[in-house]
Amino acid sequence: MNIDNIQAIAEDIKRMQAASPEELEQLRLKYLSKKGVIASLFGAFRDVAAEQKKEFGQKLNLLKQQAQERFDQLKEEIEAQKEKAEKQDLTRTCDSIALGTRHPLSLVKEEIINIFSRIGFTVAEGPEVEDDKHVFGMLNFAPEHPARDMQDTFFIEKEKGIQKPTDILLRTHTSSVQTRVMTTQQPPIRVLCPGRVYRNEAISARAHCFFHQVEGLYIDKNVSFADLRQALLYFAKEMFGENTKIRLRPSYFPFTEPSAEMDISCNICGGTGCGFCKQTGWVEILGCGMVDPNVLESCGIDSKVYSGFAFGMGVERIANLKYSVKDLRLFSENDVRFLEQFEAC
Ligand code: PHE
Repeated sequence: MNIDNIQAIAEDIKRMQAASPEELEQLRLKYLSKKGVIASLFGAFRDVAAEQKKEFGQKLNLLKQQAQERFDQLKEEIEAQKEKAEKQDLTRTCDSIALGTRHPLSLVKEEIINIFSRIGFTVAEGPEVEDDKHVFGMLNFAPEHPARDMQDTFFIEKEKGIQKPTDILLRTHTSSVQTRVMTTQQPPIRVLCPGRVYRNEAISARAHCFFHQVEGLYIDKNVSFADLRQALLYFAKEMFGENTKIRLRPSYFPFTEPSAEMDISCNICGGTGCGFCKQTGWVEILGCGMVDPNVLESCGIDSKVYSGFAFGMGVERIANLKYSVKDLRLFSENDVRFLEQFEAC
């Protein structure tokens, strides 16, 4: 044994490679085991001349240490490779699949539902093709009452050639679902009615012949206008941020008395005035009011015992405000360049 010999072994150890646990074991047997190269060098150490013992001893100890370090390093590498291989999903296709995105109206609708579900509202749904009774009649729209003109209705012709309006129509609001709930359930009632509605309007950036609503209805004993205001304030803050303010302006709907329209402080300029809020600092987001006793009675609910509030909002309107979408038509054109922008939402 001589110094050069140890040096050569040290070089071999530095270059030591192992691609599998088996190869690593071979290296361990060769260098680090009891019968390995290093052990035999320690064996030969006995025969080294006394004056060289110190130098040899140091070199040998260093060699042993280097071999152990290299071995540990290789072991770690092999384990990391194994872990990586185990994490690979071999059932995946090699081409990446372009996933679709959630539609902004679905995102906003679900957010509205989430917010109200936290204060006990559940969802009720109903048909889009409705009869006059559920859309107007039971909601206190008198026959021939001009209030029916508030919502330009698409009537469905029952028979070919018959032009005059029939009883069957496309619902103009999801209040029709509320009449269905009120006629089949007794209070307490706390429902949200999301869905698509239709109105005979010319299509432009600001109007469409169909849009989406979420309406809400709460009926119980002693429900007051203060409850309505508080529920809507909670909604506005959850939807548009803690600093959002609301204001209620008197309005008219046949099915609520008193009725109001709710504005929120413009979330684009923060209430200071901008083009979006027409410099007023406020934007209208929904209609609401206390359910008219006539409506409760026509649905079979005792208006002397129960009272309630209702509200209705356009999902497109809320989405416009939330995402600053200027043209309503974008929501129904399905242009992927528009839809892709909601990927992370
Ligand atoms: N149904 C009304 C509309 O579509 C909205 C509304 C609902 C107003 C409930 C008041 C109470 O315009």
